[in-house]
Amino acid sequence: MISPVNPPIKHAGPFRLGVLLSGRGSNFLAIQEAIESGQLPNTLISVVISNHTEALGLQTAKEKQLPTAVFEKADYASRTALDEGIADCLKAHQVDLVVLAGYDRIISAPILAAFEQRILNIHPSLLPAYGGKGMVGLKVHQAVLVNGERESGCSVHLVTAQVDEGPILGQSRVPVLADDTPESLAARVLAQEHQLYPGVIRQYLQNHLNRKENQEAHDPVLQ
Ligand code: GRF
Repeated sequence: MISPVNPPIKHAGPFRLGVLLSGRGSNFLAIQEAIESGQLPNTLISVVISNHTEALGLQTAKEKQLPTAVFEKADYASRTALDEGIADCLKAHQVDLVVLAGYDRIISAPILAAFEQRILNIHPSLLPAYGGKGMVGLKVHQAVLVNGERESGCSVHLVTAQVDEGPILGQSRVPVLADDTPESLAARVLAQEHQLYPGVIRQYLQNHLNRKENQEAHDPVLQ
């Protein structure tokens, strides 16, 4: 795994995640459960944002009594205006790391600029294969099967302006079976996603803490 730049944490207390989701929210739930079980220590989800009022993941967040917010396309004049609203919301919740968990919109400049190197996404393929615009949902797994791949998996990467092209922080692999359908392959990959995403976030936080300790050891004035 590569080490992204040190995220500037400007507050005391746990590392704060801001989750963006559009649908089911099973990756969000896996992250929240990793926090609750102590597998993802010193971390909390400070806000869950969706672009769909009816997103199942948003309901789950409410049941977990997490702060939520909705930013629907219809309420904004442009993609930039919508993403400015989301960036402001993430900042208001003092988010350290933005976690895309099945978010179906492309992230534009206002969020990219405010959270440079601090946005993660999970994608259900072994990137750089089967990534990019339009490569979403079952289409990914259909393409893997059509091409006769023997292996697939999932990737967590940093988000940049190029869709699915940011540096890869972690991957998990699964076999493709002879009788797989897109649905059965998707389910096998999804089970891996739920392990991979909390693990990569934990590593990201650990990298941050290591760098902070190193900086303080070399520059005691900062302590
Ligand atoms: C996952 O397959 C993820 O890789 C992709 O969108 C899907 C989201 O699923 N980016 P869920 O909403 O987390 O259940």
